[in-house]
Amino acid sequence: MFKVCIIHGPNLNLLGSREPLIYGKLTFEELNEQLISYGQKLGLDVKIFQSNHEGALVEKIQEATGYDYLIINVAAYTHTSIAIRDALLATKIPAIEVHISNLAQREAFRQHSLLADVVQGQIMGLGVFGYRLALDAVFHYLQGGNTIA
Ligand code: DQA
Repeated sequence: MFKVCIIHGPNLNLLGSREPLIYGKLTFEELNEQLISYGQKLGLDVKIFQSNHEGALVEKIQEATGYDYLIINVAAYTHTSIAIRDALLATKIPAIEVHISNLAQREAFRQHSLLADVVQGQIMGLGVFGYRLALDAVFHYLQGGNTIA
């Protein structure tokens, strides 16, 4: 079974109550349950990690050697963290960057991702559904990426 780690950054643990007009009403726990369950349907072993601390996120990426894929939303650290960028560059594990909101529609300081060019691709602006699309993409690429059927 392929192993996928979904890495959530700061304040995403507050999903459901945090700015619901931007981030939706699904709680963090509900989101993770649904992602694990959707992963099972695809035959993916999905593990979840969340931290509000930059160093903990760096360490998780450094230690993620047993995973086939990372799905990452390091939230505000997307725009500031050279350390998380460097950790992604150091690991050989492919990563997909997810954002719940469409960063292009938001404040100027959110419009630049320090991770954009070191991840395989980005999914943003589609709400929490973007995480499910990321799992579909992971499944697709782990199958060899030769068909969209
Ligand atoms: C976010 C966008 C970030 O700018 C913000 O700091 C977040 C969430 C998103 O998923 O839309 O916390 O990464």
